[in-house]
Amino acid sequence: MILYLHGVPNPRQREFFLARARHTAYGGARGGGKSWAMRRKLTLLALNYPGLNILLLRRTLPELRENHILPLQRELYGFAPYNAAERVFNFPNGSRIKLGYCDTSSDVYQYQGQEYAVIGMEEATHFTEEQQQFLSTCNRTSKPGFTPRMYYTCNPGNVGHAWVKRLFIDREYQNDERPEDYAFIPARIWDNKALLAADPGYVRQLMTLPEDLRRAHLEGDWDVHAGQYFREFSRDRHVLPPYEIPAWHRRFRSMDWGYNDPCCVLWHAVDPEGRVVTYRELYVRQMRAEEVAKRVMELSRGEDIAYTVASPDLWQSRGQTLRAQGGFEGETLAEIFTKSGMPVSPADNSRVAGWQRVRDYLSPAADGEPRWRCFSDCVNLIRQLPGLRYDQRDREDAADGDDHAPEALRYGLMSRPEAPRMKEKPRRAAFDPLDLNAKTGGGYLTV
Ligand SMILES: Nc1ncnc2c1ncn2[C@@H]1O[C@H](COP(=O)(O)OP(=O)(O)OP(=O)(O)O)[C@@H](O)[C@H]1O
Ligand SMILES: [Mg+2]
Repeated sequence: MILYLHGVPNPRQREFFLARARHTAYGGARGGGKSWAMRRKLTLLALNYPGLNILLLRRTLPELRENHILPLQRELYGFAPYNAAERVFNFPNGSRIKLGYCDTSSDVYQYQGQEYAVIGMEEATHFTEEQQQFLSTCNRTSKPGFTPRMYYTCNPGNVGHAWVKRLFIDREYQNDERPEDYAFIPARIWDNKALLAADPGYVRQLMTLPEDLRRAHLEGDWDVHAGQYFREFSRDRHVLPPYEIPAWHRRFRSMDWGYNDPCCVLWHAVDPEGRVVTYRELYVRQMRAEEVAKRVMELSRGEDIAYTVASPDLWQSRGQTLRAQGGFEGETLAEIFTKSGMPVSPADNSRVAGWQRVRDYLSPAADGEPRWRCFSDCVNLIRQLPGLRYDQRDREDAADGDDHAPEALRYGLMSRPEAPRMKEKPRRAAFDPLDLNAKTGGGYLTV
């Protein structure tokens, strides 16, 4: 049976069809033909490998319906019947394409224990890094001869901008990530002749967007990030190679607690002028409170830590959840930390004022130097801070996302006084040869 492709792939789409890396992203400009290519790629895989289990995801259900369920129903009509209750297209050879979404952070857990040989993530930058990492654990197969793969389509911007950029554009890898597993295919609207012919006004529409959005959506530029919350963050100004912190500098810690979500602990030191440097981070998942306390105490050995501030939710008693994390009903996590040798105080959780405090510390003081910096090995903080976005409902606040390290920083800086005012650096008087000439009786200038 011949499947009608409804078009001929352009060269970039062909590259995407041929990609076999463990993770392949096709991204950049709007309208390049990414979603078209994703639907066909998954269909071709389903046809080519009988019995293949495939998952296609969008962040929300309405987006999924508009962008994939309806087009796939048209494209696969009479060929792979759609089971609406299960949201699955069933192919005659036993392959299936399941359509899913991950609206809230806990929606990913519905895929726990499932096995998908191929996962397609549409608009990958709408997903948080935690969601992507969790979904990767479902990307596996017992089918001999087939290596599991994930395909991503994306535009710059949104909550997942930072992790997509790190993996596919900056190619900065950590832990057991292997560079050869990641491939990127740039999308450009100019490649999509079908759209340019059908709707020549679309490019004009993209050209009239505000500067940031135009660069991101028309040119596929990953260095601008529309909606970025902390534009003042810069690796050059705020990130330092680790150095020995003088023992007399005051030290403290801050923690954003999480069990299913990550838990982030930061260590800070304050210099005599009041500048703060974050010199260590611990970033863990699914680690019980006692174990976190133990790790923190080990890492802090020999250091004089004045105090630790932590997310106020540690003071709620959580019954069953708490029992699963090693405590007793009625006991708070704060008590567990204290019992384990790491006393904690509740952090000031005023969000908008807290983010403003972070902004003040990031901005340069009168002497031109920022009031806060961090060591280059605080990798999660360095990735998440520039990745924070404005909340669309509250333009003063940052949106929820991969924000556990920035939250810990916010708690930490809220325990400090407002950003310290530094004296302006004494400027060296400009050399004035005429003045010098006058003072020395004209002996200097001979012309
Ligand atoms: N090879 C092709 N042949 C025919 N039509 C195509 C082809 N590629 C894309 N199109 C059409 O071009 C239009 C835009 O494509 P698509 O929606 O895939 O772009 P996109 O890159 O996903 O855009 P966005 O960034 O907005 O999500 C759609 O109408 C699609 O059907
Ligand atoms: Mg698309």
